[in-house]
Amino acid sequence: RSQLRGDELIVVSNREPYIHEKGDGGVVCKRPASGLVTAVEPVMRACSGTWIAHGSGGADRQVVDRQDRVMVPPGSDEYTLRRIWLTPEEEQGYYYGFANEGLWPLCHVAHVRPVFRESDWEAYRRVNERFADAVVAEARSEDPVVLVQDYHFALLPALIRKRLPRATILTFWHIPWPNPESFGICPWRNELLEGLLGSTIIGFHTRFHCKNFMETVDRNLEARIEVEHSTITSNKQTTLVESYPISIAWPDEAERAAWPSVADCRSAVRSRLGLPADHKLAVGVDRFDYTKGILERIHAVERMLEKHPDWVGRFSLLQVAAPSRSELDEYKLFQQRIRQVTERVNTRFGRPGCLAVYLLAEHHEHAAVNELYRAADVCVVTSLHDGMNLVCKEFIAARDDEQGVLLLSRFAGAAAELTEALIVNPYHVEESADALLKAITMPAPEQRERMGNLRITVRDYNVFRWAGRMLADAARWRLRERIEARM
Ligand code: G6P
Repeated sequence: RSQLRGDELIVVSNREPYIHEKGDGGVVCKRPASGLVTAVEPVMRACSGTWIAHGSGGADRQVVDRQDRVMVPPGSDEYTLRRIWLTPEEEQGYYYGFANEGLWPLCHVAHVRPVFRESDWEAYRRVNERFADAVVAEARSEDPVVLVQDYHFALLPALIRKRLPRATILTFWHIPWPNPESFGICPWRNELLEGLLGSTIIGFHTRFHCKNFMETVDRNLEARIEVEHSTITSNKQTTLVESYPISIAWPDEAERAAWPSVADCRSAVRSRLGLPADHKLAVGVDRFDYTKGILERIHAVERMLEKHPDWVGRFSLLQVAAPSRSELDEYKLFQQRIRQVTERVNTRFGRPGCLAVYLLAEHHEHAAVNELYRAADVCVVTSLHDGMNLVCKEFIAARDDEQGVLLLSRFAGAAAELTEALIVNPYHVEESADALLKAITMPAPEQRERMGNLRITVRDYNVFRWAGRMLADAARWRLRERIEARM
């Protein structure tokens, strides 16, 4: 909040932080499974302002004002949520189509071929324009600070810049940025790059993604790139390209005090599954998405049990997979595939009263996920490619007993920071299987040492540092521009 120095803050993202749904006896608010929401929501609560997002749950629509604004979080009303209601065609083309069949696989290079349809691109452009209208309508000053979030809005920075030239536009790209060759297959690469370069600052999780972005611009546009300052100047606009590793809000004492003890979590989860108290449990918590390495993870479990049959019936993987983008064929096929493989592995390695893999393909609220983190012996994050991944950071935050092992993909942005995790190449099943065994047999003192260090890293580099660094850079930039304007 102090970095903002009283400036107006507007956040734009596709996913809304609170989805208003019909529930027993009225409207209930659901928190979506989204790393972006996990990270940005606490910042918004601290800074207040307006969050503009695609309205995905409108159960309260009759009772809000015509502008579709609502104060959130429910009950504490800390900031305004402004929903944009998209037509089914817009949602199909912009969200399912261009964003999730085009840009998502394009940037993750996850061996799923991106699909580029002219009609999706048109919808993406139109929706970006609708959000630009909303930003302009919501802005109360000529120079608000606008935080543009993610790959749904690559065109938005330039659209805002045109209408609010003095705005400070901070764009954060939550997913990886691929190398120029991979990005080059996108028919609208130049439009996307020009759109993004309307930003004052473009943030990525890692230096590597910044470098890929700058090389992609260099390859495609006429722009001045100053590598030593990490800036790009194009169309008289200079943009800073910086890395800001995202994180989570570290739970405060009051929050931690409300958690059930680790012992209670362990026994509650195991008894729900009908498992004995000493049963070893690995947990995976993901959206049901082909980038998350869920298949590779199940293969690693299978291989570990094949090599070490003494663990059969004494170890299980509990995989939470929150359904996501299920309208898309790739996601439907992926879900089917995972169910089949789970069944096969359970036929081979399940025992009466004990499955090798428990697949819970449904949405879980944060308290339920936190209970799983605290109940687990291991948390498995085997993304094939991930901007950052916040599940691993949430697991670390949940383990105030300093026990539990993190098994982490080297292809998640988080691997650069969380070096005390067991780092694996998820494509290498043998290596992951061996790491899994190492994790479930790791002595308590070694767990404590590793977890202790991981906790210091995540506590110190929490999401307020992430937002604070970005806003501090923006404030410096604003000041410099003002001084230059006077010269
Ligand atoms: C990733 C994206 C977010 C998105 C989240 C959930 O983390 O970077 O922008 O919100 O996935 O996906 P969904 O499509 O359900 O919003």
